[in-house]
Amino acid sequence: MSFESARLTELKNQGLLRELKLRNRYLLNFSTNDYLNLSSHQLVKKRAIEAVKNWGAGAGGSRLMAGNLSLHEELERKLAELTGMGSALIFGSGFLTNLGVLTALAGGDDVIFSDRLNHASLVDGAIMSRAEVRRYRHCDVEHLADLVRSSGSSGKKIIVTDSVFSMDGDIAPLLDIYELAVSEGCLLVVDEAHAVGVFGSGGGVCRSLSIQPDVITGTLSKALGGYGGFASCSASLRSFFVNRSRSFVYTTGLPPSSIGAALGALELINSSSNMGETLLTNAALFRERLNKMGFDTCGSASQIIPVIAGDSSNAVSFSEYLEEAGILAVAIRPPTVPEGSARLRFSLTMSHSNQDTDKVISAMEEIKWK
Ligand SMILES: Cc1ncc(COP(=O)(O)O)c(C=O)c1O
Repeated sequence: MSFESARLTELKNQGLLRELKLRNRYLLNFSTNDYLNLSSHQLVKKRAIEAVKNWGAGAGGSRLMAGNLSLHEELERKLAELTGMGSALIFGSGFLTNLGVLTALAGGDDVIFSDRLNHASLVDGAIMSRAEVRRYRHCDVEHLADLVRSSGSSGKKIIVTDSVFSMDGDIAPLLDIYELAVSEGCLLVVDEAHAVGVFGSGGGVCRSLSIQPDVITGTLSKALGGYGGFASCSASLRSFFVNRSRSFVYTTGLPPSSIGAALGALELINSSSNMGETLLTNAALFRERLNKMGFDTCGSASQIIPVIAGDSSNAVSFSEYLEEAGILAVAIRPPTVPEGSARLRFSLTMSHSNQDTDKVISAMEEIKWK
């Protein structure tokens, strides 16, 4: 048996095999990150089409060669404004942003302090940077402070955290982390992938708290409904990333269609700043109903609402049950989440009506008694 077949069989036996699925019937989608339902919005599609008509299908090269369009720079100015930071730089995706930012900021003499539940792109960026990586207990600022203060490193100290955690939907204690970073002279990088467009009138959690970390990373692929990533920071850090982020330097600029779509999404977010608020209110009501039924939704305080199922086979059978009832809520299993905490991950979006959430609640009532 080939090495890959043996490994795949092992994963299957553990209930951890992942497969790409094409679903050929209509399902109520509670697994999408298209939080504001903008991916199919007329204006977003129109701006993407206009950008292709005016600029073509591709950027034609890396931004540092011949691929830098005024469209890129227009979007960067608007992203900086949205997040309340001085400048912004677009990357190929949110994943590539985190790799580019961390590998540029940190090196062999530095230490990265990383929340245990940070997204894989932050984990990989930290490893690739060759810095020493110290992981602190999830959202535990005391543990973080202990690690920072006991570190003997003479290099840079860099604290890295998601703002909204992608699998738990809870929010990092950013005010305390920010104060610690300032008092201990640490750099602070906050990944706002799930918060931009939703929190802080669309600008993210940092903007809602009026704090400016050194770098905010984000994505154009979730609430903004398209594709791409960005880092918001000072003008000098932007220049530094243009020079030192390998995932920026050695790759083609984002295509005009993606930039046009993101500009359209920003127009909508800026013109109706309560979209995110409405979504969070709806999510709180949905979460409350699940809690009343006895489901554990971790510390969710956002549009991402997990329901803990325990072992992987439970999570998969809950998900299959919901799919039969016409609802898509994907099972999330280790290694994406810690062992023993497999779950259904619901994400509320602006496309969901009261009828849709009622349908999920009825199906969950059935699951409860299974
Ligand atoms: C917290 C977080 N950061 C970064 C990313 C990567 O973003 P993208 O999908 O744009 O690569 C994701 C999701 O995929 C995420 O959940």
